[in-house]
Formats: sequence, structure tokens, C-alpha cells
Amino acid sequence: MDRYCKSFFAYEGRGKRPVKVTIRNYGKEDFAQLIDIQRECFPPPFPSELWWNEEQLTEHVTRFPEGALCAEVEGELVGSMTALKVNFDRDHWQHTWAEVTDNGYIRNHDFAGNSLYVVDISVRPSRRKLGLGKSLMQSMYELVIHQQLQRLVGGGRMSGYHKMASQMSAEQYLNEVITGSIQDPVITFLLRCGRQPVGVAAEYLEDAESLNYAAIMEWPNPFVKADTGY
Ligand SMILES: CC(C)(COP(=O)(O)OP(=O)(O)OC[C@H]1O[C@@H](n2cnc3c(N)ncnc32)[C@H](O)[C@@H]1OP(=O)(O)O)[C@@H](O)C(=O)NCCC(=O)NCCS
Repeated sequence: MDRYCKSFFAYEGRGKRPVKVTIRNYGKEDFAQLIDIQRECFPPPFPSELWWNEEQLTEHVTRFPEGALCAEVEGELVGSMTALKVNFDRDHWQHTWAEVTDNGYIRNHDFAGNSLYVVDISVRPSRRKLGLGKSLMQSMYELVIHQQLQRLVGGGRMSGYHKMASQMSAEQYLNEVITGSIQDPVITFLLRCGRQPVGVAAEYLEDAESLNYAAIMEWPNPFVKADTGY
């Protein structure tokens, strides 16, 4: 495999203290911390059965270690992002998280797939808004370019939608977030990372805050002409 490791400084706190960040592939020795990150990042009402288990993590590091990334700050794991390769057809983009990620086990990883599909991204609450999520995403964009894939794609939780659902449809909510009149904790983050909406998927994942909706969002590889679409 092509191992990935990148270190840089992020700046936190009022005095903007520099902290050394490393983005690297995760391995077996990181599993306990990765599961702990999931516990912190997906509290109830999110179903705890959807947190990583050791079997899923073993599949990630075995089947597609390049797609298994974590962020480390001063020796502590603070975030992770996982992906697999799939053949994504932009004309038939409706899918569920369980179908496309094999329930997070990625046994359907296709080494000849045309797209990098994001299974999960999470950053510990105490380390958010430091740019770490964006850095993990950037590292995955680099993988897309390195492997000459057509795009990065994935479903973004619409975790603020439950507060607005009585007033608008999920599609209208996404449009309001795109225009900036509503800020969504995940979709606004994905837009700031340069992801573009493909559409809204219903019953994507059991997720009370999003009412099970997700925005499918992609980042097209600027160096590769896509096979379909635009
Ligand atoms: C989504 C998540 C990964 C973002 O991580 P993060 O490290 O805090 O994000 P960053 O600091 O890199 O933010 C990047 C940009 O997104 C924006 N952003 C991040 N969180 C935001 C929020 N809650 N509301 C609005 N904008 C937000 C930042 O302001 C920043 O914008 P800028 O680049 O213009 O300055 C993190 O909030 C998280 O782990 N959430 C829970 C798990 C989850 O739901 N994951 C998504 C699964 S689909």
C-alpha cells in the first residue's frame, strides 16, 4: 500500500497556541481510540450499534488501508475518516449507507471502482472548528487524485433538519443550507470543504436528527473527466 503521513500545525484557543497535527493511516493499535471517538461523536439518539466495532475496523485496515485515516494531536487520536472504492453512477445515485458501505464492513470494496466513497468522518467535540475535519477531507482528495478516481462522494447527515422539518421538505432544507440562510453542523461543513450536492437520499441511515435523510455530496477530481453528468 501507499502509506500516507502528513504533519502540520493547527492553531487553537484565544492565544492561538500551535498544536502539531498528524494525518496518517490508522492500524490495529488505534482501534480502542477510534471506537472512543465514535462514542463521543455519535451520542444518543444516534444508535450505538452504528459505532465502529473491531471487526469493521479490521476490514478497513485489511481491505483498503489507504482509505483508513486518522488525525492525531500531540499523541492523542482526535478524529478519523474512512472510505472505500465503489463504482458510482451519477445517473443512479440513490442508495443507502448500509448498501454502499456493506453496513460499514466494506467487504464490497472494489479496487477497480471509479469513486472514493466516504463511510464516516468524525472529530472529537473538544477538537472541533480547528480545521481537522477539513484536513482529513483534504487528505482524501489527495487520495482521489493519487489513484486517478473520478470523484470523492458520500452522504452527509442533515443533522439540523429535525428542527425545521415542520416548515420545509428535506430538499428545501438543503437549498436553504446551500444559500447560507441556514447553517447545518454537517452540511455546512461539507460545503466549506468544497463538496457539491448531488441530491437528497431518504432512508439513508437510521438517524433521528436527520429524520433518516442525507445529502449525497461529491468532490469531482479536477484532473479527470467524469464519465457521466456535467
Ligand atoms: C462534521 C465534523 C467532522 C466537522 O469537523 P471539524 O474539525 O470541526 O471541522 P473543521 O474545523 O475542519 O471545519 C471546516 C469548515 O467547516 C465549518 N464548520 C465546521 N463545523 C461547523 C458547524 N457546526 N456549523 C457551521 N460550520 C461548521 C468551519 O467553520 C470551517 O469553515 P471555514 O473552512 O470556512 O473556516 C464534526 O463536527 C463531527 O465530528 N461531527 C459529528 C460526526 C458527524 O456527524 N460526522 C458526519 C458524518 S456524515
